[in-house]
Amino acid sequence: MHTPLVARCLRGLETLVATEIVGSGPAAVTELRHREVHFTAAGPLPPQLRTADDVFLLAARRPDIGTTRRALRELVELAELAEPTEPVGLSEHTGIDISASFLGSRTFTRYDAEDAVGQALAHRLSVPYHSRRTGIAPPPGSRGWRLTLDGTYATLLLRTEDRPLHRRAYKRHALPGTLHPPLAAAMAVLADIRPGATVLDPCCGAGTLLIEAALAHPDAHFRAHFRGFDLSPDAITAASANADDLPIAIHRADAGRLPLPSASIDRVLCNPPWGTQVSAGGLLAEGPSRWWTELRRVLAPTGTAVLLLADRDAVTAALEHDFTPVLVQRLRLSGAQPFLVHLMRDDRVRGKADRKERVLPGPGPGRPARTP
Ligand SMILES: C[S@@+](CC[C@H](N)C(=O)[O-])C[C@H]1O[C@@H](n2cnc3c(N)ncnc32)[C@H](O)[C@@H]1O
Repeated sequence: MHTPLVARCLRGLETLVATEIVGSGPAAVTELRHREVHFTAAGPLPPQLRTADDVFLLAARRPDIGTTRRALRELVELAELAEPTEPVGLSEHTGIDISASFLGSRTFTRYDAEDAVGQALAHRLSVPYHSRRTGIAPPPGSRGWRLTLDGTYATLLLRTEDRPLHRRAYKRHALPGTLHPPLAAAMAVLADIRPGATVLDPCCGAGTLLIEAALAHPDAHFRAHFRGFDLSPDAITAASANADDLPIAIHRADAGRLPLPSASIDRVLCNPPWGTQVSAGGLLAEGPSRWWTELRRVLAPTGTAVLLLADRDAVTAALEHDFTPVLVQRLRLSGAQPFLVHLMRDDRVRGKADRKERVLPGPGPGRPARTP
């Protein structure tokens, strides 16, 4: 059996999610769309993805209805087309709820679209409909449906789990500015952590990045060392509680003066405190330069850093502190557009270039390179 499925994710992470899907077992990616990866998987249970926000059964699809309220009734067709297949292993059914999103401006609200499909679907399935218009959360056991209008298609999806995948059981303590777990998981994948590596988050907050990295490598033989620091005592308490018995060492320190030897870190994972929600304290209060200098000091020559940076200025600062980007990807996250960057030390790149220059003196246009 090949079940048509859709993974929803942050804008900008579609390719990483597709890679995780293909690596998770017998699955084939069929289409990448805005915030969606369409795929088929063998068997009744979808893969447990860490980089996706949620996984859904593809229930029905038709052309988008356009921008006007008048066309809302056309969405009822989705309720008629939907395959009301029950995902395996869910709790008892107490009705349905729908959450809608659309691209572009429309003359109707998301609640109008949700109610148009939800009422028709509930009628067809003979179950109660819990409208989200009231602001009251649907009761436990309500089946979560999702409606997306992307300008080309109107798509109706049915969640395969009781809870959205992005809600992690470990995250009992959150703090302002805490990272979206699927994004943290994607950053850990990009970091390509090897057995025995030492992984650092110098501003670890509630610990999301290190926890996702540790959970991605549960094998005890992997033996990576995860180290988190933060200036805030509340962050230390939250990260320690969230990490529970995972092998993560969390301590209080200023990221501008880390208690670490030079060149001792293989991988850095961090979203430093220059976003809108958290301010930098201690030695970083005067500006980010100190953070970059310390990062550069502790990172081994072969080390790399995967960072979430608030804006273009932060990416420029990385270049000014002798890092070279391997990847710069703009994301959309809670109304902001931060940059996901993967950096390596400049001397690695320069070292290669120097070696290349020595071996291959610059050829003229169209002439083959010759070694001296
Ligand atoms: C954006 S938050 C990190 C969130 C974290 N990734 C999470 O998922 O919860 C930035 C963190 O930097 C910390 N911070 C601010 N100034 C610092 C400093 N000088 N040294 C270490 N940590 C600092 C803040 O306390 C905050 O926890």
